Amino acid sequence: MASPYTLLKFLSESRFSSGTGIAAALGVSRAAVCKSVRRLQELGVVVDAVPGRGYRLRDPVDLLDPAEIRRGSAAVSAKVGELYCFEELDSTNRFLLQKARQGVTNPQICLAERQTAGRGRRGRSWYSPFAANIYASVLWSFMRPASELGALGLAMGVATVRALEILGCRDLGLKWPNDIHWQGRKLGGLLLELAACEADGPCRVVVGLGLNVRMPRGSGTDDIGQPWTDVATVLGGTGPSRSGIAAVVLEQMVVALEAFDTHGITPFLEDWRRLDLAAGRPLELHLGERLCRGTGKGIDVQGRLLMETEGRIDAFAAGEVSLRLSS
Ligand code: BTN
Repeated sequence: MASPYTLLKFLSESRFSSGTGIAAALGVSRAAVCKSVRRLQELGVVVDAVPGRGYRLRDPVDLLDPAEIRRGSAAVSAKVGELYCFEELDSTNRFLLQKARQGVTNPQICLAERQTAGRGRRGRSWYSPFAANIYASVLWSFMRPASELGALGLAMGVATVRALEILGCRDLGLKWPNDIHWQGRKLGGLLLELAACEADGPCRVVVGLGLNVRMPRGSGTDDIGQPWTDVATVLGGTGPSRSGIAAVVLEQMVVALEAFDTHGITPFLEDWRRLDLAAGRPLELHLGERLCRGTGKGIDVQGRLLMETEGRIDAFAAGEVSLRLSS
């Protein structure tokens, strides 16, 4: 049977196509074409069936193109071995973690049009509808041990914002440790997972980015659980293709991964301070059942959040707390 994705590519390149014409072109039965059309509709792609004329996509679908991503990013072309691009995957992070466990050490990237079990921070899931946003993971090997990677997530947040600013986004901020925000709404987030680390030696990490680009308005977003936005809204129009955006973002991420291994958090501190949404603000920190209140005082070199409470400054690591910005 024709995969729904093959059918989608076919329909993207034609105006109207009859069921018989599609079946002949793809070498499948008409029943298989009908099944793939139904599957596309389940994925949220609107396919019009016009009697006497055939099938047509109601709106163009912006599919990822790995060749365009490589062309658009010198760092990805030069440094990254495999660039996987799946129609559907449980989780791009999970896929690259498995590669690392299998012994892969060179940099790899994995993107998916859709994730069925996208992972968020703190055990949450990441809503990943088809052909709408960017779900990307990068596998990277560091010379530094895991104990020196505490601030890596913050550096990756800065790298993502740098990319979005290159694309024309303004008024972005970072909510510690690595949520990308615009006007109080979440635009994207990062999930870092350690893949294979020796006690005091080199360490492999998977950096996963979920970036809302053109989130479909509909029931699926009800469970996101916090105010969200997307790049199209921030740019006030449709903006570049998802591959164009992915190229710029992955370029900045790869450059930042190299810089972090050599210099640590230092080259990111100035931008972090500019983007830090918690600095000088009243904060609420949830440590399991315990709630602490104070004022944001920036970060330390390990990427820990500094909060002042009654004249005392405490440092908190990302794994142990969840942050709320009070108004
Ligand atoms: C967060 O909770 O803010 C982090 C979300 C990270 C989601 C991305 S999507 C690509 C990669 N694969 C995953 O399963 N998760 C990350």
